[in-house]
Amino acid sequence: MNKKLLIVGNWKMHLNVHQSSLLVHRLQERIAVHHDVEVVLAPSMLALQPISMQIDRRYFRLCAQDAYYKDEGGYTGEVSFAMLGDLVHYAIVGHSSRRIYFGETLDIVRDKVQAAVRNEITPIICVGETRQERDAGEEKQVLHDQVTTALMNLTGKDIENVVIAYEPVWAISAFNGTIAKPEDAQKMIAYIRKQVSDLYGKRAAESMSILYGGSVNEHDVRSYLSLPEVDGVLVGAASLNYHQFSEIVKVAHQLQTERK
Ligand code: 13P
Repeated sequence: MNKKLLIVGNWKMHLNVHQSSLLVHRLQERIAVHHDVEVVLAPSMLALQPISMQIDRRYFRLCAQDAYYKDEGGYTGEVSFAMLGDLVHYAIVGHSSRRIYFGETLDIVRDKVQAAVRNEITPIICVGETRQERDAGEEKQVLHDQVTTALMNLTGKDIENVVIAYEPVWAISAFNGTIAKPEDAQKMIAYIRKQVSDLYGKRAAESMSILYGGSVNEHDVRSYLSLPEVDGVLVGAASLNYHQFSEIVKVAHQLQTERK
């Protein structure tokens, strides 16, 4: 059987609680339950709790955009993965906006991945090179370092519940990104899978879901999802628009139906 396609909407720092609830309402009207597609929403930390009571879990799973790696303590302003355990299925870890604006180092990302796994939350680990790194021909080295440190100390069993998202920083809309060619995404995701294979074996690498993210919209999503290496998409701006996001889910389902 084909892997489920994973469609994740990262709302970033957009939408207050009321607006978030309205968006969920609209999405629930438009998105049908598909067993071959998993739809995941990542609203703000503030909206997670009310949305968890609103959503129909047959349609959506919830995702945190970030959390702190300690389970509890005197860390003013932080929320831990331990606190999110009952609320979310997934958590984004190491998004480029965390790495770039909030100084998240490779070691911090590694600690967050471990905290997520420890608390039975599936981390969606974001990796990707900047424009400068790409221009300098360093993209593979950057991905190698990001992937190997993020997965450090995880067991073969832990790795079954880890997702990686390749998001080249130069393709993200919030960084004025340009659209990546599908063949670029394919090449780099194949490279990431090779890293996982070197660390945990071919089987683990093949069963891991690896997503693409960067200016994905309802028009170009098919070109990414059709790639053999791509198991889903991490969508930013287009996930805030219910027409666009529900269309993206529809395309994913159509593709899965065509593959049967
Ligand atoms: P955009 O789809 O807006 O480029 O955002 C991608 C992203 O950063 C998702 O995490």
